[in-house]
Amino acid sequence: MWQLLPPAALLLLVSADTPAADPSKAVVLLDPPWNRVLKNDHVALKCQGDYRVEDNSTKWWHNGTRISSQTSSYIIADAKVEDSGEYECQTGLSALSDPVKLEVHIDWLLLQATKWVVNVGEPIQLKCHSWKKTPVVKVQYFQNGRGKKYFHQNSDFYIPEAKLEHSGSYFCRGIIGTKNESSESVQIIVQGPGTSQTVSSFFPPWHQITFCLVMGLVFVVDTWLYFSVQRHLQNSEEWRNGKVTWSKGP
Ligand SMILES: *[C@@H]1O[C@H](CO)[C@@H](O)[C@H](O)[C@H]1NC(C)=O
Ligand SMILES: *[C@@H]1O[C@H](CO)[C@@H](O)[C@H](O)[C@H]1NC(C)=O
Ligand SMILES: *[C@@H]1O[C@H](CO)[C@@H](O)[C@H](O)[C@H]1NC(C)=O
Repeated sequence: MWQLLPPAALLLLVSADTPAADPSKAVVLLDPPWNRVLKNDHVALKCQGDYRVEDNSTKWWHNGTRISSQTSSYIIADAKVEDSGEYECQTGLSALSDPVKLEVHIDWLLLQATKWVVNVGEPIQLKCHSWKKTPVVKVQYFQNGRGKKYFHQNSDFYIPEAKLEHSGSYFCRGIIGTKNESSESVQIIVQGPGTSQTVSSFFPPWHQITFCLVMGLVFVVDTWLYFSVQRHLQNSEEWRNGKVTWSKGP
């Protein structure tokens, strides 16, 4: 009987299996929210997911290797370069989280942001973070080499509503003691409805392309099956009833 499912229905049944936003997946959250930090910083990774009543333990992976922590927060009290990499977590009633990337840098100044790809209209918050929070003065934020904001005392550079022209390469610099220090540059991408094309060409969604090709193939094969099975059934029905329809030529 399944052969008689219309092709579109079968297509829906199959696509219901796609790995769309899965509410049962655990989520790794960073606290504070920066995914780039400096050596010696304090970072808490928090696992958000549902637990079994009898089991409050959390599983953690770093670079794909299971680590011993079982608490819902994995604390890095004094970050080292080796703490860089990808973190994943899972709780009793959740599926494995997506990986979250942490970068631990050795430098005097580091530009931090909550997100590196933002949508038009969303806020952008940039922080000029200094090693061990050493005082920095005369802090300047740059976009594409041009000075954008100056603070005598170190402050965050806050853009309440991102526009497309806020995309670019950013860094900050300032005076620590008597030395003039600069952070590395980092890229911020602001995407609007018209620019998502550009962004996705930076990161080609190969799995999506493959998925569409496979679905197209399934659709074609299934449509062919549907009509050929239907024709076959009709023919045998007509033979059994002993009536054959003839079409009259002109
Ligand atoms: C689980 O709960 C018990 C009792 O409340 C507590 O002692 C233990 O530390 C918890 N373990 C984890 C990994 O949170
Ligand atoms: C994890 O991977 C990152 C990036 O590839 C690397 O810098 C770091 O040293 C690795 N750490 C461990 C413990 O494997
Ligand atoms: C820091 O150095 C840059 C050039 O490297 C210079 O243009 C800038 O004025 C210096 N900043 C301060 C506050 O001295």
